[in-house]
Amino acid sequence: MSSLLIIGASGHGKVVAETAEAIGSWETIAFLDDDFATLNGKLRWPVVASSKDAITLSRQYDAVVVAIGHAEIRLRFINELAAAGCVLPVLLHPAAWVSMSANLGVGSVVFAGAVIQADVRLGRAVIVNTSASVDHDCQLADGVHVCPGAHLAGNIVVGEGAWLGIGCVVKQGVCLGKGVTVGAGAVVLKNVTDGLTVAGCPARAI
Ligand SMILES: CC(C)(COP(=O)(O)OP(=O)(O)OC[C@H]1O[C@@H](n2cnc3c(N)ncnc32)[C@H](O)[C@@H]1OP(=O)(O)O)[C@@H](O)C(=O)NCCC(=O)NCCS
Repeated sequence: MSSLLIIGASGHGKVVAETAEAIGSWETIAFLDDDFATLNGKLRWPVVASSKDAITLSRQYDAVVVAIGHAEIRLRFINELAAAGCVLPVLLHPAAWVSMSANLGVGSVVFAGAVIQADVRLGRAVIVNTSASVDHDCQLADGVHVCPGAHLAGNIVVGEGAWLGIGCVVKQGVCLGKGVTVGAGAVVLKNVTDGLTVAGCPARAI
């Protein structure tokens, strides 16, 4: 019987679990979460132990997905689990559309309604959330999160751990640095340097 372990039982974790159910490759799904004592019994899936036990327990499952929003923590888990030999699938919702020429890094998730176009490159542990779109030739580094309804035009480069807020839009060819945060609904027309938070239309540092 094939089994999936999801690390992190937040709202994002629930969407990951339902995406896995829609894919239909796993017969059982269980969670790890630091708050497992409180959460177990409250979800449709068992929350069996703390994420502190992830490396040991992951060996008992056929595949593992890390559903932790914080990019640095998500990437750390992904790298440790990969080093331990765990299978870290790309979760691609059947209602998402991904170009045959796109390349998605291990541990990435693409939710319902998302579109990923030709020659896009996603690093490890990238999240392309509900109904977001990433157009041709974009390169998203490890740990990037494209929030629901965000739209990236073609040829955009996004640095490690950047977080692109709900409903933002980014003009073609723009480079967003490492750790950048883009506010909800922002319209990004120019490059953004590492670590900056930008918001508004046109987006400016806040
Ligand atoms: C950009 C963001 C991260 C800033 O959060 P923050 O650091 O807590 O900033 P604050 O709420 O203190 O706001 C600081 C200022 O920026 C403004 N601001 C914040 N977010 C803004 C946005 N998205 N667009 C325009 N202005 C914004 C605030 O109005 C405030 O202005 P003021 O000083 O004139 O009152 C946050 O507001 C945001 O947009 N988050 C995105 C949420 C999201 O996408 N969730 C999806 C999860 S999947």
